[in-house]
Formats: sequence, structure tokens, C-alpha cells
Amino acid sequence: MMQTLVLIKPDGVRRNLIGEIISRCEAKGYSVAHLVKLEPSRALLAEHYLEHEGKPFYEALMEFMLSGPVVAIALEGERVIEGFRSLAGPTEPTLAPPGTIRGDLGRDWGTKVVQNLVHGSDSEESAARELAIWFGRV
Ligand code: RTP
Ligand code: MG
Repeated sequence: MMQTLVLIKPDGVRRNLIGEIISRCEAKGYSVAHLVKLEPSRALLAEHYLEHEGKPFYEALMEFMLSGPVVAIALEGERVIEGFRSLAGPTEPTLAPPGTIRGDLGRDWGTKVVQNLVHGSDSEESAARELAIWFGRV
């Protein structure tokens, strides 16, 4: 069965939205296969965000992701990779449509890097790579 990596980022954990976000995934019909709350190391995050290394927002993104615990979830179901991206909505919460996680629960807080509550793998290759990073195996 297909799996994707979902992260509830530090802003989502701080705002007590773990249950709300998981509820939306489960209500859609996806299942939680693995779940862990942790404070990721810089090394783990560097591996996760390899594609963004060197970009202008990279340091602020790392700082934000190191600012508190995150919840990592292996979410499972047919076409869950694209399905969760659709539940999450676009990167920018100000513009994310109502009905999406970022659109309903997020906004611009004036921070250096956009705080948008969740991460979701963007392809099968990313999902396999990211699940291995966070859970040690697919
Ligand atoms: P994610 O990987 O977290 O699911 O989000 P995404 O695909 O929608 O966005 P991506 O382009 O992969 O960027 C990863 C995260 O970096 C932060 N970001 N900030 N210009 C900016 O300020 C900027 N661009 C990206 C966001 O936290 C984004 O989710
Ligand atoms: Mg991304």
C-alpha cells in the first residue's frame, strides 16, 4: 500500500493541532501506519531538506523546524501522496483555499519563513526517501 511522509511542523504542535490534522487525514479515509513525536536533530533536517540547501530561506527554515517538537506520520492509502498534498493546500497559507489544512488553520504570522503547519512528500521518490529518513525503512 502506498505511504507518504506527513510532518506536523513545530507551529502545528505548539498550537495543539495534532488531533485536528490527523482527524482530517483519517476523515478522508487514510490510515496512520506509523507515528512519532520527536525533536529532530539538525543532521536529520539537513537530510530531509537537502533540495533546499543554499536557498535564501534555508537557514530560517532550519531554525523554525528546530524550534520545537514535530510529529512524523507515515500515512497510508491509495494515491495518498497526491491526496495529502491536496488536503494540505498550497505552501502559502494566506493564499491556500479554505477547506485545506493550511487555508483553514494557517496564516502569515510575519515570521522570516512561512509557517504552514504540515509537510507532505511531493512524489513517490520523495516519499520513499523521506520515510527512510524518519522511520528508517519504507
Ligand atoms: P513542504 O515540503 O513542507 O510540504 O512544503 P511545500 O512542498 O509546499 O514547499 P517547499 O517548496 O518544499 O518548501 C519547503 C518549506 O520551506 C518553507 N519555505 N519558505 N519563500 C519562503 O519563505 C519559503 N519557501 C519555502 C516552507 O515552510 C515550505 O513548506
Ligand atoms: Mg516540499
